Amino acid sequence: MTVQTRSSAPIRSLLFVPADSERKLAKSTTNPADVLILDLEDAVAESRKVGARTTAAEFIAAQASKLTAKLYVRINPLDTGLAQGDLATVVVPGLAGIVIPKTNGVDDIVQLGHYLDVLEARAGIDAGSIKIIPVATETAPAMLHMQGFASTKIPRLAGVTWGAEDLSAAVGAVSNRDENGQYSPLYDLAGSLCLLAAAAAGVPPLDTVFTDFKDSAGLATTSRASRRRGFRGRIAIHPDQVAIINEAYSPTEAERAHAQRIIDAFAADPGAGTLGIDGQMIDRPHLVQARRTLGL
Ligand code: COA
Ligand code: MG
Repeated sequence: MTVQTRSSAPIRSLLFVPADSERKLAKSTTNPADVLILDLEDAVAESRKVGARTTAAEFIAAQASKLTAKLYVRINPLDTGLAQGDLATVVVPGLAGIVIPKTNGVDDIVQLGHYLDVLEARAGIDAGSIKIIPVATETAPAMLHMQGFASTKIPRLAGVTWGAEDLSAAVGAVSNRDENGQYSPLYDLAGSLCLLAAAAAGVPPLDTVFTDFKDSAGLATTSRASRRRGFRGRIAIHPDQVAIINEAYSPTEAERAHAQRIIDAFAADPGAGTLGIDGQMIDRPHLVQARRTLGL
């Protein structure tokens, strides 16, 4: 089976903006993020959740046509009783997608898709146009059900991301880090399962937050390492993180030039299965990678 990545503008950066903060919403309109995620979940206190829905919907209605960033909303988890009300308010023209946290498996994503089918029809939005990005590793059942991404087709899926904070709470861990500050094995596994789930579904894997938002060097280093692992973009929690993420997940000039050489070499010799460039064997997987580097 060949896995095809659906084509659309690449997502390198997604900035979380607490949807109850007029000030942060205003600030986000000049940010270079590819996606703004208006958050109704963990960044919003219980007492402000209902008001934040309306603020988010008004922001989308006012800004969607003016911004190049796509506007997503992170709703509350399906089992809180808040998700349906969140969706009923924020599904308005201009909404590009929903981030759904604490999914327990792909059944939750399928369920969300059914809700969106109805709400799109009510709002006069093209059927199927609102995308979904799940935070796929935040509960224990979710981790045990990750194979669902290989067996269930979800046409609205635009990417898969993961989280380490809620998962550590779910398993009762004191910390998700070891004594050297590195992720413990469970959280490396969560990141790796995110990569596999996204590849199986043919959508981009998007890396989790870097919470130390004043540590620009750490963000840059870990983001470059994340791109080497296969992640195609990353979530930001602070406006200053976005430019660093955009750069880290963009191919360098040298990578682009090398990719072009691979494409040119295969174009010049269409019958070749394998070629030599600079003393290195280049075959079909390198061609696939080269085309991806150039966004083809
Ligand atoms: N989106 C938009 N604007 C933001 C922002 C964000 N995520 N985070 C900070 N800003 C704004 C601040 O309001 C401030 O604007 P101002 O100069 O007009 O006052 C400016 O950027 C600088 O902010 P700074 O003082 O460096 O940070 P802070 O202490 O105000 O906020 C956080 C720190 C972590 C609370 C804040 O970045 C935040 O709310 N992040 C998002 C958290 C979130 O959504 N979490 C859920 C996902 S894990
Ligand atoms: Mg969370």
